[in-house]
Amino acid sequence: FVHQLADQNVSPEALLVSPFNLQPEPSLPLPLALYGPGRRNSLGVDLACAAEREPLFAAAERTSVPTIAEAGAATVDAAMRSLQAGFDRWDGRPVAERAAVLRRAADALEARMPEFCGLLVREAHKVMADAVPEVREAVDFLRYYAAQAERQLVPQTLPGPTGESNELHLHGRGVFVCISPWNFPLAIFVGQVAAALVAGNAVAAKPAEQTPAVAQRMVELLHECGVPADALQLLHGPGDTVGAALVRDPRCAGVAFTGSTQVAKLIQRSLADKDGPIVPLIAETGGINAMVVDSTALAEQVADAVVQSAFRSTGQRCSALRLLCVHERIADGLLEMLRGAMQELVVGDPVQWITDVGPVIDAEAHENLARQVRRLDAEARLIARTPVPAGLDGRYIAPAAYELKQIADVRQEIFGPVLHVVRWGSGELATAEAVVERINALGYGLTLGVQTRIDGRAQQIARHARVGNVYVNRNMIGAVVGVQPFGGEGLSGTGPKAGGPHYLLRFCSEQTVTVNT
Ligand code: SER
Repeated sequence: FVHQLADQNVSPEALLVSPFNLQPEPSLPLPLALYGPGRRNSLGVDLACAAEREPLFAAAERTSVPTIAEAGAATVDAAMRSLQAGFDRWDGRPVAERAAVLRRAADALEARMPEFCGLLVREAHKVMADAVPEVREAVDFLRYYAAQAERQLVPQTLPGPTGESNELHLHGRGVFVCISPWNFPLAIFVGQVAAALVAGNAVAAKPAEQTPAVAQRMVELLHECGVPADALQLLHGPGDTVGAALVRDPRCAGVAFTGSTQVAKLIQRSLADKDGPIVPLIAETGGINAMVVDSTALAEQVADAVVQSAFRSTGQRCSALRLLCVHERIADGLLEMLRGAMQELVVGDPVQWITDVGPVIDAEAHENLARQVRRLDAEARLIARTPVPAGLDGRYIAPAAYELKQIADVRQEIFGPVLHVVRWGSGELATAEAVVERINALGYGLTLGVQTRIDGRAQQIARHARVGNVYVNRNMIGAVVGVQPFGGEGLSGTGPKAGGPHYLLRFCSEQTVTVNT
């Protein structure tokens, strides 16, 4: 990254967060021109329209992140009207043109990596070591979907009887609503929007209310790179108002949603009840992700994989490890090693490269997590807790690991740096198969880690596990676009997998044209 910037002659002074001297300038404001009174979106609607709602954030709540107002009903209606009108034109453009727009956006985003890293750190409290790969992932999504579109969205001639020609065409569906989360406010946002756009849809994008500036800047960049205003509109605000209005709008022709299982089900219900066409939902939700460690596993490798999977990104990844199932024969030694590894975690300021664990996203998340931690303190055995340095209270949750007796005791996904541990090897959990059965019974199906040196065991477990991504003898986070297509099943989502070869097709409608020649 640093070499890349040096090659481009980017001066350290020009960077919002300088990777050269590792000394970001905390008082530097974000590009405040993004917002503020009089700032209009591409429809000409005032983003800070006073008549609509209260600002989402008080300035004091998020220093140096601009205040922004939520879209009211009139803004949503204007955006949907414009998008519906713009859809045909955008869908009518050759696939190569839409792909070229995505590639231009990829180049532009890559060139502005420091600015976007700065936004991710300030607005989403990403640690720098997570911000850089997130920008890269967003670039990868843009280039991958551009390439996939050119490969897949071409008309196919199908065999048929003499005197008849048959062709299968893929088109956009209409106005796709993309609702994205705060934990990957750039990568997941861009992944959804890029796929929907390149497939020919017009897009109404609703980013998480916690991270509007990252989305705003990215949409401006997409517009600058050639996405017409009436093919992409950004609507800010909470899910239960703005998200809900978009989803129940009769002009909504499809929804891509990443967030909680509960909200995915609400969206599904709302889509079923609304007027208009039958509308597909692409949902990626959470998981109670487990790692099964047998007695042959290499303890050093496991300890490293566990720390990365459970505590990197402050545990705020849907792929993160929540439940470590370790064979009783190696459990004591491994947990001792884990204790040591957790003492090495650096909890602190996200702008420092050395930091492993930053603050959680906001006060509400902190309150929820603190409540879960209090419950575990009362009900489970604490294995280890990494202390939070003095003076950083209020937004930090100390990384912690707790031992429970049974897999079924893990009742819900805890979206933070909290790990559950269960021993197996006897009684009801005598075999790895029994462990996988209990994990399947939790109902989620996103990621699974397996640590073993027995030939064939990992494959056997993978075959029986009802999950989308299995990682063997490594960590279980950070799926790479085009390499590890990502997404789950059951309570974890509907598929298809982001960054995989079937994703774009779900954003398309298919039309067969049969001609009597
Ligand atoms: N795609 C991310 C990962 O693989 C999670 O959202 O970690």
